[in-house]
Amino acid sequence: MLVDTHVHLNSKKYEDDLPQVISRAQEAGVELMIVVGFDHETNLRAIELAEKYLFIYATVGFHPTDARYVKESDYEILTKQLKHEKVVGVGECGLDFYWDKEFTEKQIEVFRRQIELSIKFDKPLIIHMRDASEATYNVLSEYKNLRGIMHCYSGSSEMVEMFIKLGLHISLGGPVTFKNGRVPKEVAKIVPIDKLLIETDAPYLSPHPFRGKRNEPARVKLVAEEIAKLRDIPYTELAKITAKNAYKLFNIKELK
Ligand code: NI
Repeated sequence: MLVDTHVHLNSKKYEDDLPQVISRAQEAGVELMIVVGFDHETNLRAIELAEKYLFIYATVGFHPTDARYVKESDYEILTKQLKHEKVVGVGECGLDFYWDKEFTEKQIEVFRRQIELSIKFDKPLIIHMRDASEATYNVLSEYKNLRGIMHCYSGSSEMVEMFIKLGLHISLGGPVTFKNGRVPKEVAKIVPIDKLLIETDAPYLSPHPFRGKRNEPARVKLVAEEIAKLRDIPYTELAKITAKNAYKLFNIKELK
């Protein structure tokens, strides 16, 4: 009954043992995975995996740290890919002023183009935001009818409500389990339950006690357990509600 709403099974890090990674996820109770693309190659691989596995869906987009390389013809490719029935979102896209302080204007332009595609196709945006809360908010707030996810949300608890008012969901991952994860733990308690999603962002951001190791989708269970504890509700309830939220947002028929 778990849904991992953000996992990069399209990463080269799973080249050698993808079937085992997938079966461990299923053993942990993961019934649906959204494989998120972030450049041309990983977008194609996400679609390939979605075509192969019933319980995998894909998203396609360009990561802000690659924005400088995005060309006009890339949007035509995205537009074609977004017509695929198993491509359910746009991204990951967004703004990252931590890794790239130089091409911020280009980042904003590439983000806008993807926001427009998300609205056009009515498929949710997968938003990456790092050290760019205000700029991200300002860009997004110029649009109406937004749907999407603040993925592995790392903004302040004060801004949670502002993003939700724009029509977005808040997704939490491994950092909510970190001993020094004060802000995500605070966020986990205040997000309205119908706007809450869970993810791993695997192979990155492995939850405690696996911090620093290659992450995998089975560990979304650790994220769910921690949030259930913080909100003082049963784990099964948290898992069920966040799964329902994911099916609804991505417009996917429940598999079970
Ligand atoms: Ni990611």
